[in-house]
Amino acid sequence: MLDAALVLLAVALLLVVVGGIQPLAAKLRLPPPVLLAVFGIAIGAVSSAASRSAFAGHFDVAARLFQELPVSSETIIYVFLPLLVFEAGITSDVRRILEDWAPILLLAIVATLVTTAAIGFALWPLAGMPLVVCLLLGSVVATTDPAAVIAIFRDVGAPARLSRLVEGEALLNDAAAIALFVVLLAMIVSGREPNVADGAREFTIAFLGGAVLGIAAGRLLLLAIPWIGGDRLAEASLTVALAYLAFIGGERLFHVSGVVTVLVAGLTVSALGRARISPYNWGFLSDLWEQIAFWARSLVFVLASILVPRLLLNMDWHDLVLTCVLIGAAFAARLFVLFLLLPPLSYFHLTQPIGTPYKLAIAWGGLRGALTLALALAVSENRALDPAIHHFVAVLATGLVLFTLLVSGTTLRPVIRLLGLNRLSPRDRMLRDQVLALAYEEVCEAVRDTAAEYSLSDEAVRETVGPYQQWIRAAGARDDAETGLTGRARLAIALLALANQERALVLEAWSQRTVAAATVQVLLRNADALIEGARAAGRLGYRRATRSAFSFRFGFRAAYLLYKYFGISRLLADRLGERFEVLLFTRLLITELIGFTGRRLHPIFGARIAGLTRLILTRRLDATAAALEALRNHYPDHAAALETAFLRQSASRREIGRYQALFEEGLIAREIYDDLRRSVDEARRAELRPRFDLGLDTAQLIGRLDLLSGLDQEQLARVQRLLRPQFTMPDERILRQGERADAVYFIASGAVEVRINGQHIQLGTGSFFGEMALLTQQPRRADVVALTFCRLLVLRKADFEKFMAENPDARAEINRVAQARLEMNRRGLATAAGK
Ligand code: CMP
Repeated sequence: MLDAALVLLAVALLLVVVGGIQPLAAKLRLPPPVLLAVFGIAIGAVSSAASRSAFAGHFDVAARLFQELPVSSETIIYVFLPLLVFEAGITSDVRRILEDWAPILLLAIVATLVTTAAIGFALWPLAGMPLVVCLLLGSVVATTDPAAVIAIFRDVGAPARLSRLVEGEALLNDAAAIALFVVLLAMIVSGREPNVADGAREFTIAFLGGAVLGIAAGRLLLLAIPWIGGDRLAEASLTVALAYLAFIGGERLFHVSGVVTVLVAGLTVSALGRARISPYNWGFLSDLWEQIAFWARSLVFVLASILVPRLLLNMDWHDLVLTCVLIGAAFAARLFVLFLLLPPLSYFHLTQPIGTPYKLAIAWGGLRGALTLALALAVSENRALDPAIHHFVAVLATGLVLFTLLVSGTTLRPVIRLLGLNRLSPRDRMLRDQVLALAYEEVCEAVRDTAAEYSLSDEAVRETVGPYQQWIRAAGARDDAETGLTGRARLAIALLALANQERALVLEAWSQRTVAAATVQVLLRNADALIEGARAAGRLGYRRATRSAFSFRFGFRAAYLLYKYFGISRLLADRLGERFEVLLFTRLLITELIGFTGRRLHPIFGARIAGLTRLILTRRLDATAAALEALRNHYPDHAAALETAFLRQSASRREIGRYQALFEEGLIAREIYDDLRRSVDEARRAELRPRFDLGLDTAQLIGRLDLLSGLDQEQLARVQRLLRPQFTMPDERILRQGERADAVYFIASGAVEVRINGQHIQLGTGSFFGEMALLTQQPRRADVVALTFCRLLVLRKADFEKFMAENPDARAEINRVAQARLEMNRRGLATAAGK
């Protein structure tokens, strides 16, 4: 056994090499894993040769250093796997992945099963191994490492959706493959007769159970975040702990797939965490995880490749033949999935069609990497297995990894070029040009500001800004002349730029803490929908997305149902408060975007496009203002409170900025500064965001009814006992024609529409409805639908008589109105019949 210092020495040396390989790989334009593997194999070869050679004595320590590292499969599985998988989850863009859930899920789960089966059945007749063992090998090599393909896709400017597809697939693919691997391994170890039904059941439980547990674990972490008070080091530590806790908890405590648990926990944190963790801290977290995963991946790679020479030495002709079969089967399975399983999905519009060149590139780029090696190691060190199985799995899996790295990996770039994927489409090029032009405009503006601040000469400004402006002009001319893009395409690109800017503004507001977490999430979702809409369907898509931003989503409806059927109003009030804030902010955002259109889009896209964009924005602004107004009319107090809270937030932000400036200029000491900051922070925290109140207090609502304004205290108190408040959503049907009558409704705020004989009659605050059926003892004569949010006071049938008897004035009024309505309807019917 080596002592600790030597082990550390070896690890440090490996890190030196791992660090050196990155720039080298960039220079050689090769995927880094290729070089890592080559390097690992070289170390393995040299050290094993050295330990056998005549010089063994001299090189003994050096050779043993790498040959006997105490890195067992246990170490790899427990130390590195959770890190690798968690990182994959936390750094992925879950919302984007969800948009393409159908193809990703298909590619991931079905593809894993297909690959495993294809490989298993292809090898079985030749390998002289039981079928389960062949399938086990299939699951080991079913994981794919997307990094190489994605890096190249990014280089050649492939559509981002495609990269996401590959990334998302690889993510779930790994989870599915490992869950399958665990099930198969358990079958072999237990020596049970393999059984498809059992296997399928165990796989499903492991997968689904892991997913549920992962969501719970991720949410638990997010619950803890507010308690930490924004300390990035603490937040990061918790995420690292979460990776291990989820893995071990899943494996040992709940007996589900630990890998799936970790992955889903990471995905949950990624999906919901961005709105809870400040952008600055999130950036730190991402960087940290990138670093951790880089170490984990590189070390697994090198450590596993060190073992390769030993494995290859034991290889015979039979193994070589099997490796070739394996390679063939793996590619065939992938082509099968891409060319036969994906097309039906695009036929049903579940995904956009993927061009053949891209499919070929994805198939060729299906590299196998660290995970395959880690799983193969785990098999080869499992004492419960037969040595023949060790040999079989380790040699073949390594063979495939080497093939994909050394053959596919090194030729991927030429293949992409051969397929013509490195040429941007005119639309993509224009998009890139516009993005650059926007960036350059910003640079120019910043240069001018700096020059003004330091009173630099105009000449210097012109010199600096000139090349940028020239570029912008040239790009504009090129786009117009060469790409021949239609006005519609240009508008789509302008809207895309606008939607991107909206997203940036939301994140900025979040970093300044002017918006609540829940609101940010809604705003981000809206901005994302706008981006996707503009990208997929231009102006139409953008419009569709703006409209759906106003719709009441699932959460809102669920809260409303809880209120309606169980009387739980808190959740509904929170949702309404959130809607208030979202609308308030959206209005602010749109105003800023209109400015952005004038400043940035106009110079690049020209007056016509800028005019159209402004028109679209103005319409959006009007719709937002109208929706806001509808709420503000009902709840003026809350609107005022929200505005005050918003102003207070920005005031305290300024206050802190001021203190900081004083501190940095040395005018106040650190203690005083800390103290001031703390007091502002405390005041800020103590000042809770105004909580939305549905305003369903009967006594207050009665005050809004003219009908009851003449009552004295005592009468009011009696009436108050008879009336029940009720809240309704816009478009909700309150009464249905032909129904039996059970109550009369007074409108304390809002508006409804009576729909009778094809006529639509609107009733506003102070009116009532539903009286006719009670007075005449007949069914309801009309439909009544809420036009806005309404607060109603409901008088039940049983109390109606009592109410009428006790309040003669109201009774007279109600009778009068009912009579008039009856008359009106009769006349209406007569005119309708006379037509
Ligand atoms: P009811 O028949 O109980 O249910 C439908 C209600 O619509 C009815 O009572 C009235 O309150 C209201 N309604 C019917 N006709 C008119 C009308 N012409 N103008 C205003 N409200 C009406």
